[in-house]
Amino acid sequence: MRSKPYIFITRTLPEKTIEPLLEMANVVMWEKDDEPVPRARLEEEAEKADGLLTMVSDSIDRDLLESASKLRVVSNMAVGFDNIDIEAADELGILVCNTPDILTDTTADLTFALLLSAARRLPEAAAYLAEGNWKEWAPMLLAGTDVHHKTIGIVGMGRIGSAVAKRAAGFDMNILYHNRSRNREAENITGARYAGFEELVKEADFVVCLAPLTKETKQMFTYSVFKQMKNTAFFINASRGGLVDERGLVHALQERLIAGAGLDVFAEEPVKPDHPLLSFPNVVALPHIGSASVETRHAMGELASRNIAHILKGYRPKALVNK
Ligand code: DGY
Repeated sequence: MRSKPYIFITRTLPEKTIEPLLEMANVVMWEKDDEPVPRARLEEEAEKADGLLTMVSDSIDRDLLESASKLRVVSNMAVGFDNIDIEAADELGILVCNTPDILTDTTADLTFALLLSAARRLPEAAAYLAEGNWKEWAPMLLAGTDVHHKTIGIVGMGRIGSAVAKRAAGFDMNILYHNRSRNREAENITGARYAGFEELVKEADFVVCLAPLTKETKQMFTYSVFKQMKNTAFFINASRGGLVDERGLVHALQERLIAGAGLDVFAEEPVKPDHPLLSFPNVVALPHIGSASVETRHAMGELASRNIAHILKGYRPKALVNK
């Protein structure tokens, strides 16, 4: 009799989320939920695993994939998969899955919250109060920037970009977007208008980065891009830090070329506490929590597990990344 397939999960997930796998596979989870699995253990597990359930914080590179002789599937608990060498996976016949759709609204909510927080200076205001500084009401105390009726420029009009556009429409915003191709559905639903990248950057009061990290988008937001933005405009990033030249952003903030930023993601994560981007009062910085609601994280864990279960049963999973 053939033994059950072996699946390694790179964090501790709630047992309920991995139910689709429990009956059909031997499942082992890395013992911690708040620390990534050390590289040596990941390599050791990859060598014997039929499937890996991975996180955005795991680097699933060519070396790892080449040494994983039994590996059939890598199921990433994220919609983004820039942490996985897809080219190598394709060559080796390893299937790669992700968790699209179920996190769209949650991530769009967080993106819009970040935009509102930066514009209306919410963390600064909360800290002001908590630190006992509120002695008097004052007409211009912590006055921020209006969001309603302003122009939002969304770079990356996929599922999450479209969901952010819907939220922006609810705030009576003028919506511009830039994308590899036109998104007619989003245009029809939200009134968004397609714009060239440069036009969008120059016109938007909020430039919102939601494009995936690829070879083409890497470091697309440079100092010279920030320099083209209005000095009253905000830069919001809820995609990946790799799309931004962070030194360029620091310089733009130092020179007050832009009004502020809202960042959920960084080039290196976790970002170091002494990172210069964390030193500006007009930067709202979050620890990559775009899809972090309890409901959505459970749904992501379940979908990532189901993706593996489908492949082990010989079906094509819904969320397959390889062509
Ligand atoms: C994703 O799904 O790609 C998110 O960034 C992970 O939270």
